[in-house]
Amino acid sequence: MSAPFNPESFVAKNVRDIPRSGIREFFDIVQSQKGVISLGVGEPDFVTPWHIREAAIYALEHGRTTYTSNLGLPKLREAIATMVEENFKVTYDPKTQIIITVGVSEALDIALRAIINPGDEIIYHEPCYVSYSPSVSLAHGIPVAVSCKPENNFAVTAEAIERAITPRTKALMLNFPTNPTGGTMTRTDLLKIADVCLRHNLLVLTDEIYSELTFEGEHTSIASLPGMRERTIFLHGFSKAYAMTGFRVGYACGPAELIEAMMRIHQYSMLCASIISQEAATEAILHGEPDTIEMRDQYRVRRNFIVNAFNQMGLTCHLPRGSFYAFPSIQSTGLASKEFAIRLLREHQVACVPGSAFGPSGEGFLRCCFATSLDQIQVAADRIAKFVKSLR
Ligand SMILES: Cc1ncc(COP(=O)(O)O)c(C=O)c1O
Repeated sequence: MSAPFNPESFVAKNVRDIPRSGIREFFDIVQSQKGVISLGVGEPDFVTPWHIREAAIYALEHGRTTYTSNLGLPKLREAIATMVEENFKVTYDPKTQIIITVGVSEALDIALRAIINPGDEIIYHEPCYVSYSPSVSLAHGIPVAVSCKPENNFAVTAEAIERAITPRTKALMLNFPTNPTGGTMTRTDLLKIADVCLRHNLLVLTDEIYSELTFEGEHTSIASLPGMRERTIFLHGFSKAYAMTGFRVGYACGPAELIEAMMRIHQYSMLCASIISQEAATEAILHGEPDTIEMRDQYRVRRNFIVNAFNQMGLTCHLPRGSFYAFPSIQSTGLASKEFAIRLLREHQVACVPGSAFGPSGEGFLRCCFATSLDQIQVAADRIAKFVKSLR
């Protein structure tokens, strides 16, 4: 008799060790409740602008249903090169230094897999997007978190990064404006971080997905700073700025050798991003800027309302200068963030994400996505205020 088959024993150890996303776990509860206002999921409430959807329809109508080159449609890479040069002041060769991916998610994954040898340490700032630490672990690297504080507007400091560096440190991951805090960086502070990277010979991965949703000040990418273009992989996509989450399209720009290494993984895993999405993305990048500006203006109005509402109800909330997330402190209530979020959902039907889902530094906070209508945000804010009052 052979031993009973145990499927779980076949799961690789580093996969078994990965926790389920704190957001997923939470949204399983949301599904089971009625009348819930969701400030949970981090995606635009706007439908993709019509001319972008039309470009996808046009591609289908004309039978554009094939694979593209592994790097992606040349016209899309050319449009990206032009936009990145104009808006971010960094020049890339569309033939060798840009790859189109299945969202920033894939770009991040293949960038990490392309650079990590087992045991390499990757520094990132926390609270952060849920996939950062698991993506490093899945690539057999060691994630090293540096925490960002509200008193510093959730920016990361060069000193904190330098303290975390060891002989095994290979790269630094940055995401400004940040999911979940809305933190941004000034050019002056980024220059200090660039100096650390140059002195310690670090590679930088910069996730620019919220850069167009910067409400105050000018966004600077670390890739544009002196000496940094050569040592930075610039990741960006269409999900947030153009409300295109379902199209699953993003890109990475960087030194040709690193893009080539990423392409080797991409060609055997994804092969290419969907041609229909690439056609839509081309239209977005060529003609979508006015839509982005209009959406950003609406997010700003909602941000001002929700931040003010939190501060008025006694939940201290710093002003997020970018992204579409507010990150109020709930420490004054005495509840842990998960308990607060679960009770808010069960007792008052508002879904927010506990800060702890974004790493231990997120404990004591709540992520509230304001990419939902102002009417809904107003009702949600009333309900949250009622809940907070009931705790006093
Ligand atoms: C910081 C950050 N990076 C990447 C992603 C994933 O983006 P995409 O839809 O392009 O895969 C998200 C999505 O929420 C995000 O917040």
